[in-house]
Amino acid sequence: MSPAISLQSVRNMSDSSQSENEYQKGVKHLYENGIQKVPNKYIFPILDRPNTEKESHVNEANIKLPIIDFAELQGANRSQVLKDLTNACAQYGFFQVVNHGVPIDGITSMTDACKRFFELPFEERAKYMSADMKAPVRYGTSFSQNKDGVYCWRDFLKLVCHPVPDVLSNCPSSPEHLRKQTAAYSKETRNLFLMLMEAILESLGLWGAEMNITEENDILEEFEDGSQIIVTNCYPPCPEPELTLGMPPHSDYGFLTLLLQDEVKGLQIQFEEKWLTVEPIPNAFVVNIGDHLEIFSNGRYKSVLHRVLVNQEKTRVTVASLHSLPFERVIRPSPKLINKHNPTRYKDTDFATFLEYISSCEPKKKAFLESRKLS
Ligand code: OGA
Ligand code: NI
Repeated sequence: MSPAISLQSVRNMSDSSQSENEYQKGVKHLYENGIQKVPNKYIFPILDRPNTEKESHVNEANIKLPIIDFAELQGANRSQVLKDLTNACAQYGFFQVVNHGVPIDGITSMTDACKRFFELPFEERAKYMSADMKAPVRYGTSFSQNKDGVYCWRDFLKLVCHPVPDVLSNCPSSPEHLRKQTAAYSKETRNLFLMLMEAILESLGLWGAEMNITEENDILEEFEDGSQIIVTNCYPPCPEPELTLGMPPHSDYGFLTLLLQDEVKGLQIQFEEKWLTVEPIPNAFVVNIGDHLEIFSNGRYKSVLHRVLVNQEKTRVTVASLHSLPFERVIRPSPKLINKHNPTRYKDTDFATFLEYISSCEPKKKAFLESRKLS
């Protein structure tokens, strides 16, 4: 299986087509072949590398994200938890959810199945490689292999889970149980997303048991037909982690992302101009506000930049579930949050515009969201 080419020398022969093919196969492949140096294609410009910030100690700093106890949110303590939720969304754009009701064995089986996918022989994974950003199933390295000038140290499997006629037939049939686990997991996370959205609408004053249910009730119904994409990310050990990133700074496009991270640290969020590492809590979901919710809330809730560091020792696998309204739906600030004192701050947008945007340029920081802001 392993090619005769010495990967150790890839960096010195980055123009040859042979090395081109090697790094196109992704970072899991490079790692399995014992690469000792990060190939040029993966080396970030000096200013974008992880350790070149003004303060060099920042990478050791951890952040304790606000914790939302989902069981309490659904119980007698709802109004207090809603306040915490409002704060978390406005100040951090991130929180962790515990007691979320998604069965722990479902979480474990899903992460295990994803790990086993990345352990398949490259040829098996490669069957799902596609240059089409809209493909219902897409395996690859970095973000967009054909477009990215610099690659990030990440392989991924992306699956459109909702609304699709049949999740199972999109999902790779190998490893065993991946289909079954993905179907169950996507359903559980969708339910959690819907309940979190209900609470978030309530926290914005747009929904509540005692309110006249009109417009915003419709939006909850629309979320039921909304889009869900599951992306599983694999960050293998990297010989020179200070030269690259698992993911460059970015914000997520949708309403909410529900992320499962294993016990290996790597996710960092921007908080008060510093990069802080999110401390993993076993079996909790890291939830973050995406661009669509920032727009919908007319800027009250923040879609925050985050990035991923890699390390020399351990493979890190994460599973992200990205949720929004239906793909064709136009996203705009909620009319109820707009008035004379709070004029609309964003242009209308939709998923197609986003895809067009990211297909036409390298995803750079918050560029898409910035492009939607009215000055
Ligand atoms: C993402 C993301 C973080 C991680 O998938 O958008 O930010 O730690 N993932 O994998
Ligand atoms: Ni993200």
